[in-house]
Amino acid sequence: MVKICCIGAGYVGGPTMAVIALKCPDIEVVVVDISKPRIEAWNSDTLPIYEPGLDDVVKQCRGKNLFFSTDVEKHVAEADIIFVSVNTPTKTRGLGAGKAADLTYWESAARMIADVSKSDKIVVEKSTVPVKTAEAIEKILTHNSKGINYQILSNPEFLAEGTAIEDLFKPDRVLIGGRETPEGRKAVQALKDVYAHWVPEDRILTTNLWSAELSKLAANAFLAQRISSVNAISALCEATGANVSEVAYAVGKDTRIGPKFLNASVGFGGSCFQKDILNLVYIIDPEKLREIGFIVYSIGKPLDAWLKDMPAVA
Ligand SMILES: NC(=O)c1ccc[n+]([C@@H]2O[C@H](COP(=O)([O-])OP(=O)(O)OC[C@H]3O[C@@H](n4cnc5c(N)ncnc54)[C@H](O)[C@@H]3O)[C@@H](O)[C@H]2O)c1
Repeated sequence: MVKICCIGAGYVGGPTMAVIALKCPDIEVVVVDISKPRIEAWNSDTLPIYEPGLDDVVKQCRGKNLFFSTDVEKHVAEADIIFVSVNTPTKTRGLGAGKAADLTYWESAARMIADVSKSDKIVVEKSTVPVKTAEAIEKILTHNSKGINYQILSNPEFLAEGTAIEDLFKPDRVLIGGRETPEGRKAVQALKDVYAHWVPEDRILTTNLWSAELSKLAANAFLAQRISSVNAISALCEATGANVSEVAYAVGKDTRIGPKFLNASVGFGGSCFQKDILNLVYIIDPEKLREIGFIVYSIGKPLDAWLKDMPAVA
């Protein structure tokens, strides 16, 4: 029996692993966390988070092939595939403070994996991380690997809070990035086999590691950019007497544009959007990478400021 261990029983780790357990009765899934109250809640009738449909999924498999535990080291040591779904908040101090992701939790999880592992492991980045994190994690894991082979995969999560179970049941896509070596491809296939229990093959995309890491940040940047753009149009509507709902509806009817993420509002919110975009901004120096910086830099700026900054475009 394949054994999966997920480090981090949060918004992503809990629901994602519950759905994997439900859809893959032949796989044992253990979700571990250093937070005792969180694990106690996952083992109780009052789960630590609310998502429509989550209670049902957990009730169907908890105690059968889905377990929640604080015995992190034991379950990591026993697992074939380890998902790392710990928090990656924005750094509050040091280099890159206010922009770069704080990878302290990730690095400490990687060190623990290296310490307790006695067999080969596939380590899956589930957390949202900056591009090239897999390289740093690989260094930690292989620093004193005792002959153990680690394959790092990037498998970013695209679920949205509020529709997590629906998103996991019917994802637009599952993205798996790995090393382009025979061992890397084998690891990608092993994770693909897990998702193939319920996700149609043409929705499971496989890429190299860096494409997968960057795609998550880029997808959030595009979504935020749409909100930002419609907000800029809303300012134009106020000045001209147009109605932004009517304009957004008319624009969204174009099949090349589509209707989603075109609601004018106070701006884009949610910790994920803000921190993922900060992350992208952090890796882009707009002076050196003007064409790339242009997309990201424009997010969140009023249209006139954006045009002033980009004379070539204006
Ligand atoms: N919340 C979302 O909607 C969402 C969507 C997509 C991606 N993400 C990304 O997924 C990652 C996880 O997000 P989340 O919302 O689930 O975070 P969360 O804060 O809800 O959960 C993270 C959990 O990891 C645990 N943890 C931290 N270090 C640990 C360690 N060394 N060992 C064991 N447990 C440890 C914490 O105790 C916490 O319970 C983040 O990178 C986030 O950006 C989140």
